[in-house]
Amino acid sequence: TRLFVVTGQEQGGDLAAEEIARALAATESGFVLGVATGSSPESTWRALAARKPPVDLSAVRAFALDEYWDLPADHPESYKEVIHRQITRPLGLNPQLVRVPGDDGKDLRAAQRYEQAIRAAGGIDLQVLGIGRNGHIGFNEPGSSLDSRCRVTQLSEETRKANSRFFATVEDVPAYCITQGIGTITEARRLLLLAYGPEKAQALAAALEGPVTSAVPASALQLHPDLTVVADESAASQL
Ligand code: GLP
Repeated sequence: TRLFVVTGQEQGGDLAAEEIARALAATESGFVLGVATGSSPESTWRALAARKPPVDLSAVRAFALDEYWDLPADHPESYKEVIHRQITRPLGLNPQLVRVPGDDGKDLRAAQRYEQAIRAAGGIDLQVLGIGRNGHIGFNEPGSSLDSRCRVTQLSEETRKANSRFFATVEDVPAYCITQGIGTITEARRLLLLAYGPEKAQALAAALEGPVTSAVPASALQLHPDLTVVADESAASQL
């Protein structure tokens, strides 16, 4: 594991954008980027969009980590929309190459089709990740099997509360989601985990230095051979 402790999100974003640009340049053809929503990756997307000379992402295929299940796809807070606003448009990705779980129909086979689509693309070259305050990755809440696959599952009350900042009330936060599993995520060839702020300190320490346990989904990342962690001083304070 490589750990970079940065002064703040802006510096973290620059560093993470550099990692992505380098991975892209090192991949012969058909780069596949795992994209993530949430506040943590925002400075990374901004830094990537601002790079000079510009990074050409027009041929990159992208797969999102997760999506709300019980929310219309055109809702402004659906991850499909968030990804379009924060990633696809500013970074010049081809919208047809950007996939979000459940975007081809929210039926019983949606999760399985998403797994197949990732596999058909050759797997994810680099997956960007945030971490939840309870140690979740994607929407794999504590208790998720460490070799779980893409599936429809439930959000914890804690996560609904944390995400209620994007909705009028906590009751408006969807209760169900579709997410890549922990097994799916850890199959990516490179992982880039971003953590900022004191509220992530405990989760980050448990993830990187605690036992590998489904009680802390992000602890599965420890076992990955190519994990880069970018954290600010407050998030890294319990390491
Ligand atoms: C959300 C997302 C995760 C994200 C996490 C942290 O619930 N499903 O993919 O990493 O919470 O979000 P943030 O970076 O905004 O703290």
